[in-house]
Amino acid sequence: MFIIMNKFLFAILIIFAFSASISNAQQQYSGNSVMQCNNSDQTGPSPAFLYTCNLEKPSCKAFLMFRTKPPYLSLSSISNLTFSDPTELARINNISTSTILPINTEVIIPVTCSCSGQYYQSNTSYISNDNSETYFTIANETYQGLTTCDALMSQNPYSKFKLFPGLEFQVPLRCACPTKEQVANGTKFMFTYLITWNDKVPLISDRFNISPMSVAMANGFSDENTELYPFTTLLIPLPNEPLSSQMRSYQPTATPYPKHKTSSYKWIYVGIGIGASLAVFCFIFFLSVYYYRRKRTKDASWKLGQKKQKLPKHFLDKVVRIGELLKIYTYEELKAATDNFSPHKKLSNSVYRGILRGKLLVIKKMSTNVSKEIKILGNINHFNLISLYGVCEHEKVFYLVYEYLEEGSLKDWLHNEDGSHAQSWNQRVIIALDVANGLDYLHNFTDPAYVHKNINTCNILLNRDLRAKIANFGLARENGNLNSTSFIGEKGYKDPEYIQSDEVTPKVDVYAFGVVLLELITGKDAVLMRDGEEVFLSEIVISSMDGKDEINDLIDPRLQVKHPLGYIIDRSELALRFLKLSVACLAREPAKRPHMANVVSSLMKIQADIDNSQSFSSG
Ligand SMILES: *[C@@H]1O[C@H](CO)[C@@H](O)[C@H](O)[C@H]1NC(C)=O
Ligand SMILES: *[C@@H]1O[C@H](CO)[C@@H](O)[C@H](O)[C@H]1NC(C)=O
Ligand SMILES: *[C@@H]1O[C@H](CO)[C@@H](O)[C@H](O)[C@H]1NC(C)=O
Ligand SMILES: *[C@@H]1O[C@H](CO)[C@@H](O)[C@H](O)[C@H]1NC(C)=O
Ligand SMILES: *[C@@H]1O[C@H](CO)[C@@H](O)[C@H](O)[C@H]1NC(C)=O
Ligand SMILES: *[C@@H]1O[C@H](CO)[C@@H](O)[C@H](O)[C@H]1NC(C)=O
Repeated sequence: MFIIMNKFLFAILIIFAFSASISNAQQQYSGNSVMQCNNSDQTGPSPAFLYTCNLEKPSCKAFLMFRTKPPYLSLSSISNLTFSDPTELARINNISTSTILPINTEVIIPVTCSCSGQYYQSNTSYISNDNSETYFTIANETYQGLTTCDALMSQNPYSKFKLFPGLEFQVPLRCACPTKEQVANGTKFMFTYLITWNDKVPLISDRFNISPMSVAMANGFSDENTELYPFTTLLIPLPNEPLSSQMRSYQPTATPYPKHKTSSYKWIYVGIGIGASLAVFCFIFFLSVYYYRRKRTKDASWKLGQKKQKLPKHFLDKVVRIGELLKIYTYEELKAATDNFSPHKKLSNSVYRGILRGKLLVIKKMSTNVSKEIKILGNINHFNLISLYGVCEHEKVFYLVYEYLEEGSLKDWLHNEDGSHAQSWNQRVIIALDVANGLDYLHNFTDPAYVHKNINTCNILLNRDLRAKIANFGLARENGNLNSTSFIGEKGYKDPEYIQSDEVTPKVDVYAFGVVLLELITGKDAVLMRDGEEVFLSEIVISSMDGKDEINDLIDPRLQVKHPLGYIIDRSELALRFLKLSVACLAREPAKRPHMANVVSSLMKIQADIDNSQSFSSG
């Protein structure tokens, strides 16, 4: 017993000694080591990654600097990029979230900075949208040095050679909490400043009205004349929150923006700010009244299936949070945008198209419970999941406003007979990958994890570049939920085992995805008429998987590639790999179906092989 006690005390002593040594340490300036992207921190924290934890505080409020540049010109887009609370962001910068700022305006970003292991970081995520992006450009250009290439590489699993648009990166932002000594000297917050050309410690400290020595010490400099490199960060210890008046706005020529120019706009900003807060407040108020009344009257439309739909306890909290990001449209705006819901603005049953606040959007009228869809789409953000822009409520009818996808549904695209769309294997693989990535995100990267439950080619939409996005989250449920409704999915996409079990699992979506893959390969519908009877595409395909000829018959004729000499290039091997993947998704036993993450990697392999064979045949 004593021995155990002694060991315990010893351990505590060691921890204390260790923490004392860390908490005294000041941060070290990274210098231009962040540019190399080949650093290692195997033997201890390195300034080329992030700022080191001191055990004074495991977590604190901190501030970062950001300079506006397209497409990050409004606080809402900057809040999206950094996961910073939009209300706080608006308050500290003294402008409203929707204001469009001139390029190169400095913005203060309030974040929560926490110690995760050896480094302080403020977590955000970023979805790559450009083929040319690398770990380095995300750190240096998108985040302007607020994160580093080394830190990004260590916290993301992707190989630096295999990055592609749509990938989601975890981004740790460089922040720090004050040390014990700094706290004793009156420092409350650490501000991560972005060094620019010709910056000097005395100039910066002057601007923040603190002594150059305390800035020098906070960054591990022996004096204030150390050389600073642009696109790296400097820590500024502040006794108070940074002020918007300490931020600057530069013309492209880097001459300071005339001060009166910004201030003459300030009243407008304040006006917009008050207007926006009022709109949010009214929306929340309406929602509360609405839900309260709904709850009391036990309206039948709340019941989906047999069970009564219970409102999540914290739903209103969520709406408050979402209300800041989602736009609230007025019914008059929607009426004007759709010419009073005129038939020629109609896209399909209760779905309209219209220009709202200068943007072509889709308006969906819904009299059912939209809380789930708002809750899910308001909280997630992925290139392959449709974006919800805003909401409107009018006479107990909800209007959800989404991004507009030019090419419409995948089903229509597959059935489009006019040859104006170049149909190729490559394109179909990209569409399959898009859907798989969206589902993978939904199943594995959201908190809580969701199951869409209604995947089919009508609910997959294509944009102008034929990139696919999953829509219609009306049936989506949290992973592991009990089956609250017997209705699931469309005919032909239904998981045969699902009916018997009560639990909603991602494998339901994997099954439906298998059917979508079949449609991409065959160009046929999920349900076909044969001799006056309905048959499922999945059954036809599974029963004809034995012979090569049958497989060639199954393939969409539009996918045949003619060699310049006239004969048809045999792509049955490619088709077979595709078919095998979809058949795996259609396995009767849910446990035997692959996870969406595996589906994504199989599709990526197929895609890489198509690319190789194409460059081979053309070269
Ligand atoms: C990192 O790369 C630079 C040049 O790009 C090289 O000088 C340096 O030795 C490399 N460091 C390590 C640890 O490999
Ligand atoms: C931030 O991300 C890191 C690494 O992914 C994780 O360890 C840490 O818990 C996260 N911190 C917070 C506050 O979520
Ligand atoms: C938020 O960022 C993602 C990419 O990371 C982008 O697709 C999305 O449109 C952004 N949303 C807003 C409201 O700016
Ligand atoms: C980092 O980004 C800045 C600003 O976009 C750019 O001027 C600079 O060349 C980049 N640095 C490197 C090493 O590419
Ligand atoms: C705190 O203040 C004391 C006295 O002014 C000074 O000697 C010391 O260097 C300061 N420490 C820091 C971390 O600024
Ligand atoms: C915010 O802007 C208003 C209007 O220009 C100004 O009166 C006020 O002093 C500003 N507040 C801060 C904290 O800068």
